[in-house]
Amino acid sequence: MKHINILVILLLISSCVSHSTLENGILEVKNLKLEYQENPQGIDVEKPRFSWILEGEGRNRSQLAYQIVVSSDTQKLNTGDWDIWDSGKVQSNETNQIEFNGLELQSNSDYYWKVRIWDESGTESSWSNAANWSVGLLKFSEWKGLFISHDVGYDKTDKYDNLYLPPARYLRKSFHISKKVKQAKVYATALGLYELRLNGDKVGDDYFAPGWTDYNKRLYYQTFDITDEIKQGDNAIGAVIADGWYAGYVGYALLVRLDKVREFYGVNPAFMGQIQIEYEDGTTEIIESDLSWKASEGPIREADILMGEIYDARLEHPGWDTPNFDDSQWKSPKLYTYPNGKLEVHPGGLVKNIEELTALAITEPEKGKYIFDLGKNFAGIVRLKIQGKKGQKVTLRYGEILKDDGHLMTENLRKARATDTYILKGQGIETWEPKFTYHGFQFVELSGLSEKPALDAITGIVLSSIETNQSTFSSSNALNNKLYQNIKTTQAANFFEIPTDCPQRDERLGWTGDIQTFMRSGTYMADVAAFMTKFLIDLDDSQHWYGAYPNFAPFPYSRPNQYSPAWMDAGVIIPFNMYKVYNDKRILSYMYKGMEKFMQFQEDASTDFIRPPGGNNYGDWLSVKEKTSKEFVASSFYGYDAKLMLEIAKALGKKEDEVKYSKLFENIKKAFAKKYILDNGFTTEDTQTTYAVALYFDLYPSEELAKKGAKRLAQKIKENNYTFTTGFLGTKHIMPSLSKYGYHDLAYKLFQQTKYPSWGYSIVNGSTSIWERWNSYTKNQEQNSSINAAMNSFSHYAFGSVAEWMFQYAVGIDTEDSGYRNIIIKPAISKEMNFINGSYESINGLIESSWNWEGDTITMNITIPANTKAKIHIPTTSVKSLKEGNKAVSEMDAIKVIAFNDALAIVEVGSGTYSFNSEYKE
Ligand code: BGC
Repeated sequence: MKHINILVILLLISSCVSHSTLENGILEVKNLKLEYQENPQGIDVEKPRFSWILEGEGRNRSQLAYQIVVSSDTQKLNTGDWDIWDSGKVQSNETNQIEFNGLELQSNSDYYWKVRIWDESGTESSWSNAANWSVGLLKFSEWKGLFISHDVGYDKTDKYDNLYLPPARYLRKSFHISKKVKQAKVYATALGLYELRLNGDKVGDDYFAPGWTDYNKRLYYQTFDITDEIKQGDNAIGAVIADGWYAGYVGYALLVRLDKVREFYGVNPAFMGQIQIEYEDGTTEIIESDLSWKASEGPIREADILMGEIYDARLEHPGWDTPNFDDSQWKSPKLYTYPNGKLEVHPGGLVKNIEELTALAITEPEKGKYIFDLGKNFAGIVRLKIQGKKGQKVTLRYGEILKDDGHLMTENLRKARATDTYILKGQGIETWEPKFTYHGFQFVELSGLSEKPALDAITGIVLSSIETNQSTFSSSNALNNKLYQNIKTTQAANFFEIPTDCPQRDERLGWTGDIQTFMRSGTYMADVAAFMTKFLIDLDDSQHWYGAYPNFAPFPYSRPNQYSPAWMDAGVIIPFNMYKVYNDKRILSYMYKGMEKFMQFQEDASTDFIRPPGGNNYGDWLSVKEKTSKEFVASSFYGYDAKLMLEIAKALGKKEDEVKYSKLFENIKKAFAKKYILDNGFTTEDTQTTYAVALYFDLYPSEELAKKGAKRLAQKIKENNYTFTTGFLGTKHIMPSLSKYGYHDLAYKLFQQTKYPSWGYSIVNGSTSIWERWNSYTKNQEQNSSINAAMNSFSHYAFGSVAEWMFQYAVGIDTEDSGYRNIIIKPAISKEMNFINGSYESINGLIESSWNWEGDTITMNITIPANTKAKIHIPTTSVKSLKEGNKAVSEMDAIKVIAFNDALAIVEVGSGTYSFNSEYKE
C-alpha cells in the first residue's frame, strides 16, 4: 500500500514538472541574507531587506516568482504556521533588496525565514534552508542597564611629551539562576571598548566592540545569544573596558600637537549591558549593569589602540569572571550618564580573527632581540606563548619591514608607540593576546627572554572586518597574481571597523580620498555591503555644516575647515557604487539630503561651473614627476559628481533632480572643455592624470576628441618608458581609460611593468602588500634615503585601485544596470598576456570569465548565474567562425548575436556555462 502511494505521488510530481526543469533540475535557493548578513543578531531596521541567490544546472534559468515566509519559531516555520509574514506568491524576478512587510517587529525577538521560488517554467523549487535574525531593543525604555565604570583616578601629565595611558577597568557580577532557561541574550555596549565575559569565557568572537562612530551622534550595541552558556545555578558576568577611540589617542593629533590629543569623545570608558532571560515557565528576568556590580583594576595596565598594551600577569584575578570568585576586595562601580547619541545596532559586523599565521623564521640582529617573520604585512595582534620567571618583562615591538642591519624599521610609526609588554607570572607556559590594541606589521621583535624562543612563541592573528573571498584571479604572469594577493592583504588590513588609510602609524583614519578611489575595487575582493553601509553612516554623520564632507570619517577633531577636492567627493562616489554593485537604493535615499547639500556647497563655490580648489587640496596625492593642478582636480571631480548625481536621482525616481543634474553635468562639461581641453584633444596640463581623469569622468566634449585624448595618453606613457607619473587619483583612472579606448596592449605593459614607478616594482622588491608610495622601499636602501620615512606606509590600499580594472577589463566582469542583473563580459584580450582566469561572487551569484588567445584562436569560458543575463563581447574575425562548444553560434537559438563591428561580436545569453572560441588575428 505504502509503495503504491509513493508511486502515485512521484507520478503526480513528475507530471507537474515541465520538460525544461526535468532536463535542468530544480533551482536551489541559497545564501540567504538579511541586511547583507547571514543570520544577523540584533537588527533594528524597521523593514529589513532579504536576499538570496539561485543555483541550478542548465541555461537560461530564471525566477518568475518567489515566496518568503517568516515565523516566530522554527517549528512554526516548518509546519506552515507563518505567523509573522507570508509574502504569498509574488510574481517578481527580484532576489535582493526585498523589504520585509509583515507584522511589526518586536524587541528582543527571534525570527525564522525561508524562501521558495518558481523557475522559468513555473516549477516550484524546494524551500531553502531556514535562516534567522533577531531584533534588538527598539525602545529606550527597554534599556535597564546603567553605564558603569571603575574610577582609576586621573593623572594629568604633560599632554604632548608624556603619554597618559590608564589601566583597563574590570567589572563583574555573580548571579544565581534557579529556574530552567528557555533563552538568554545579552545586550551590551561601552563608551570605549569592551570585552564581555561569562562563566570564564569570552562572549562572542568580536574584537573592538562596540565599534567606532561619532559617539555624540550614535553608539552601537551588540546582541549575544548566551542560552547555551548560561547555567541553572551560579553564573558570573564580567566586562573589561578600555579607552579605545572614545577616550584614547586617535590619529595624528599628537604628531601635529592639536589642542586635544586624546579623549575626543569622553574621559572615562564605561560599560552598559543587560542579560535578558526567558524561563521555561514563561517568566522573564533582566540582570543589568548597575551599582550591585563590583569594579577593580587588573593585569591590563595600559591599553591603547595606537600605543599598545601592558599586561602584568602577576596582577591577574584568577577566576574573576567565574561565579565563586570572592570580590569583597573590589569596589562599587561609578555611574556615568548615557551618551548624547542614539543607541543603535552596528550595521556592519565587528572585527574578527580571520586567519592565524605561523612564524616563518627567527633572526637575532642583536643579542637578546629576536625578530619573528610572519610572512606578510597585515593588521592584527600576536599570541605570545612563553615561559620564564615571575616578574620577567618581555617587550614586543612591531615593524612592516627590516632595515639592512636586520632591525625593525619603526620610523614610519611616528607617534604610535605600537609596543606591547608582558610581565610573566612565572607559572609554566604562559599565553597571552592583547585585547584593545592592534598593529600593522610583518615582523615582531621579542626581547627580555632568557633564552632563544621557539618559533611558536609568536602566532600572528590577522584581524579584519571583512573576508576577501569574493573573487579569484589568476593570469599567466605570477607577478600579477602576487599583486592580486597583495591587494587582498592590504584591503583586509585596512577594512578594520572603518576603511582606514593605513594600519600601522598614528593615523588609521577613514580618509575619504583613499576609500573613494578604492571603493569599486574593494567590492570585487570582498562583500563590503554591510561594512560600507556602516561607513556611509559615519560619513553622513561627519558632514560639515556647510556641506563639504570631511577628509576622514568619523571626524573627531574640531577642525571645521578640513575638506579637500577628490576626498569630499566620497560622499557621492561611494553611495553611487553601493547602488551600482548591490542595487542598494536605500543608502542613496539615506544620504540624498546630504549629497544635495554637498552639491550646493560646490555650486556656491564655483564660478561659471568651474570649481576652484579649496580646503586642504591634496591634489593628485603622491604623484611623481608630473603635477596636475589643484584646479583641474577640483573641477573634474565636480563634473563627475554631477554625472553621478543624475544617475542617483534617476535611480530614486526624482525626475526634476535628474533634469537638474543632467543640465549641471552638461554645463560643467562645457566649461571644463573650454578651460582644459585643446582642439587637438590634448589637455592644457598634458599630464597622465589629466587624461585618465577626463576620459573616465566622460568630460571630453566629443567622442572624437576623447579618442585623441586617449591617443595622447598612450603616447605619453610610451614616452615615459611604460611607467606612471600618477598619484592616488590618476592611477585609479588610467587603466580603465586606456582599455575603454582599446589600448589593451599598453594597459598590460603597465600592469606587468617592474621598473619604478609601477606595481611590479614593489613586487620585485619583495612586497606582500600595497605601498603608500611608488618607491616606498628598494632592496638597495641607499636609494631610499630621499624618502620621508615618517610618511611611508607599506599598507595603503589606494594604489591597489587597479583591482577595478583587473576585474572590469582584464577578467572583464561588469554590470550594465545596478546589481549585476544585466552582466557585461568584456575582457581586454591581448597578446601581452597569455591567459586570465577570474571569478566574482556578485549579489546575484557567481560570475566566471576566463580567456586565452593562442595562435589565431581565442577561447572564452564564461559562467553566468541563474536569473541574470549577459552581453558577452568576443573578438572574432567573422560571426561565422564564432563557436560555442562545437556549434556555430549563428546556428544556435539560445545565443543571440546582437552586434558585430570592428571584429567584435556581442552575444546575448542567459544563465549557464559557455565555452566560446573564435578565429582572431592580431
Ligand atoms: C594619509 C592618506 C591621505 C592623506 C591626505 C595621509 O596622511 O595616509 O592616505 O589620503 O594623508 O593627503
